[in-house]
Amino acid sequence: MPNRSRHPAVAEVHEGGITLRWSDKSPMHLPDLWLRDNCHCEKCRHPGNGQKLYEVVDFPDDLAAIEAMVAPDHKLRVLWSDGHRSEYTPDWLLDHDLIPSARNERRPVHRHWGKEIGNDLPIGDWPEMLADPAKELGWLDLYRMLGFGLLKNVPMKEGMVAEVGDHLGFVRVTNYGRLFNVISVPNPNNLADTSLGLGVHSDNPYRYPSPGVQLLHCLVSDAPGGDTLLVDGFAAAETLRKENPGAFALLSTVPMTFRYSSANAELEARQTLITADMDGVISAVHFNNRSADWLDAPGDLAGRWYGAYRIFAKMLKRPERELIFKLGAGDLVVMQNDRALHGRTAFDPNLGRRHLQGCYIDRDGIESRRLVLRRNLQQQHENAA
Ligand SMILES: [Fe+2]
Repeated sequence: MPNRSRHPAVAEVHEGGITLRWSDKSPMHLPDLWLRDNCHCEKCRHPGNGQKLYEVVDFPDDLAAIEAMVAPDHKLRVLWSDGHRSEYTPDWLLDHDLIPSARNERRPVHRHWGKEIGNDLPIGDWPEMLADPAKELGWLDLYRMLGFGLLKNVPMKEGMVAEVGDHLGFVRVTNYGRLFNVISVPNPNNLADTSLGLGVHSDNPYRYPSPGVQLLHCLVSDAPGGDTLLVDGFAAAETLRKENPGAFALLSTVPMTFRYSSANAELEARQTLITADMDGVISAVHFNNRSADWLDAPGDLAGRWYGAYRIFAKMLKRPERELIFKLGAGDLVVMQNDRALHGRTAFDPNLGRRHLQGCYIDRDGIESRRLVLRRNLQQQHENAA
């Protein structure tokens, strides 16, 4: 949290921007165009929705601050070369500080995990969450931090997974429909038919955008085995960066192609296995060897990329990374598809039935749900105080 006991003391205009000195002597550099584009006066922003009322090209090319001063109420006041006047509160300036430590604090908190998270699973009771928004928010906060969460006591009726999806966000319809079934029933004619294990992966990386969140609801689980496997792709990517920065650089810059082809679909998406921004913050890991198409990259890179790809694939198989748990009937797991990579252990369908239903929602929908709940609960607290 920014230190709010300090306040702006002196402002100096110089070429390119303003330097603001705070009461604790720390400087803050405010580039001209950046600062002007953040003017919140009623000529610049719609008072109702806060949206900008101008185009960025409307500023003169030589726009510059010509006067800056700190007012007695500690607001920064600026006169611009086109005659416009802006003012900025100390709180706004602190909340938008561009120094690395402040930018770092504003990043989402991702708590990395391995198999030990099995002792402390992020569990929410579905009926309790429906009845109590604070409980739902608590579970959503855990989901945001860990990239997955488990719901218990979800009614065991078909189609329920899409109802939960529409509650947490909005179900994304694909060529598989609104929801899909993962089903196996005992088949005495085919005793040898053991359903194989599935290595961890992200679903459908051949879509653009790839599904952000997958929900899987267990309706029947009689067969031994068939446990759910989850691996934190962000934690693995972070380990890769530490242990082998060259491999990390290849997987985060060389795009690969994922493909799916069927009678009624031709799906293709080109994306890097690891998505990281200019600060190195990881926002997505897409791993799915089954749908990885041939790598179209310059020859020297293609060879080196495969080395990196295999190192990462081995890293995902480290036993200490694998969370293994069994979904029982009425359980529903929510997984950030480009972080919590999922798979399953082998099972014998001849020993019992297994029926899961799944659907996809988008990452922004579930995050919006969390933020709206938080805002509403804060407002309720303030009104009650
Ligand atoms: Fe899958």
